[in-house]
Amino acid sequence: MNGNSYLARKIHSLLGVIPLGLFLIEHMITNFSAYEGGPEAFKDSVTFLNELPLVFFLELFGIWLPLLFHGVYGLYVAYQSNLNTGRFQYGRNWAFTLQRISGVITFIFIVWHLWQTRVQVALGNVSHEELGGLMHDVANNAFFFVMYIIGVIAATFHFSNGMWAFLVSWGITIGPRAQRISSYIWMGVFVICAVMFLMSLAAFRGDEFKDAASAALAWANLV
Ligand code: HEM
Repeated sequence: MNGNSYLARKIHSLLGVIPLGLFLIEHMITNFSAYEGGPEAFKDSVTFLNELPLVFFLELFGIWLPLLFHGVYGLYVAYQSNLNTGRFQYGRNWAFTLQRISGVITFIFIVWHLWQTRVQVALGNVSHEELGGLMHDVANNAFFFVMYIIGVIAATFHFSNGMWAFLVSWGITIGPRAQRISSYIWMGVFVICAVMFLMSLAAFRGDEFKDAASAALAWANLV
């Protein structure tokens, strides 16, 4: 591996944790407010985030650019790597393969999801107040509901399993015992994160979010 690709891989790995891992947790908590407190609580969370100072630059440098680099370079790594190298014990081989598969699924999901949510806000088709209603329509569409379940499971697995690999590659969990304990912890994190996202997805199906929808949603444009 030459010096450039070593550096690119390290940057790719670090961006997966800071800021993207932090964003995933923040996003999970924001969405969970829909389950905990209904439309009002969700609207308050979205308003709070969008009123942060310099929100555009926070999104640009904290989400979009890191996502672009991590996603595109990640696709390149996934394309280059031999899916089953035989370098690790059986379980880790599977985790290695699933990390790449979940990365590709997450990438496709995020591109679609961004189009459906953030881009529609930017285009002026949907206001921040209408996002709960938009998610209500998405969650009640059978096709999108299944797509979101797959996307959420892929993203949370990719994050948790990626954290396991990050701790190994940055020399934090070195011995087999530390790596085994770490794998239990991160699989626990995976289950908790996936369940919290899925609970919010289920909450958006509720009729109380229908009231938050408006004719201005122009849902037909998004399908
Ligand atoms: C239950 C599942 C999910 C729901 C209901 C949901 C909902 C939303 C909503 C409403 C927005 C627009 C926020 C705004 O403009 O203020 C958004 C943006 C976004 N979502 Fe999700 N999301 C879900 C899962 C995910 C997952 C698993 C990822 C993967 C990392 C993800 C990545 C993003 C990104 C990158 C943005 C753009 C953020 C920004 O530019 O500020 N979402 N989501």
